[in-house]
Amino acid sequence: MSADIIDGKAFAATVRAKVATHVATLKADHGITPGLAVILVGEDPASEVYVRNKGKQTAECGMNSFEHKLPADTSEADLLALIDQLNNDPAVHGILCQLPVPDHINQNLGINAIIPEKDVDGFNILNVGRLATGQTSMVPCTPLGCLMMLRDKHGSLSGLNAVVVGRSNIVGKPMAQLLLKDSCTVTIAHSRTKNIEALCRNADILVAAVGRPEMINADWIKPGATVIDVGINRIPAPERGDGKMRLVGDVDFASASEVAGAITPVPGGVGPMTIACLLANTVTACCRANGLPEPEGLTA
Ligand code: GUN
Repeated sequence: MSADIIDGKAFAATVRAKVATHVATLKADHGITPGLAVILVGEDPASEVYVRNKGKQTAECGMNSFEHKLPADTSEADLLALIDQLNNDPAVHGILCQLPVPDHINQNLGINAIIPEKDVDGFNILNVGRLATGQTSMVPCTPLGCLMMLRDKHGSLSGLNAVVVGRSNIVGKPMAQLLLKDSCTVTIAHSRTKNIEALCRNADILVAAVGRPEMINADWIKPGATVIDVGINRIPAPERGDGKMRLVGDVDFASASEVAGAITPVPGGVGPMTIACLLANTVTACCRANGLPEPEGLTA
């Protein structure tokens, strides 16, 4: 069998188009322009690329983008003061503090300082608790993107066996909550899980979010399963020349795609969905802040 390839790049483009349509309506009918503020502390090159892309795509969808680049030695108090200012700025509907922050700043303090209504990352403990208890919340972007692709593939997820490999706060745990909310039978597997291969082979939906290059191969996969690969790992690629690297996921795509029913590639799978869902969350936050109906198809 050869799996259907889930095209995350194309899917993300449709999400961005929906976001742009909602933004245009908010402007035309209500005179409101959604605004996203992104904070970057320090000069981590990968984070700089992410933040630049976020700003570019925010503007392309017609929203206001507010970038706050702070030096690496910014004090925790100064970061918290900026977050407080943005919390109180009516032009800002979403706030994201790019992680990681430098070691002298308490990351959790920063995350929890963003008011839950503007926490478009869904990392604030109030949003984590609201998601876990079925209350309206902001939902972390990467798992939201995975959920959108799964719903698109399956329609209803009710009753399906889902295994999430990885237990991070950013992906694994919220992914499991979202699948549970859609009535899957959910297992979270991790580095200490016994018989992990056999467990994964029972999954109708397998989400890989461990950060270990090509760990999951065809032997882990139930024939016909849907495999969502969240991993983005850079590994040496000597075949491309000296010192060259290439991107791979947590799934060995070549073998897995022979067994799975559907699979996301790396790159071009989950990756592009993350920023698209950040834009979606910003529109959702803006609608909620103004007492307007939430955009359809862009929320959990
Ligand atoms: N760093 C890596 N991924 C993320 C993310 O989803 N949100 C934030 N704020 N920082 C990140």
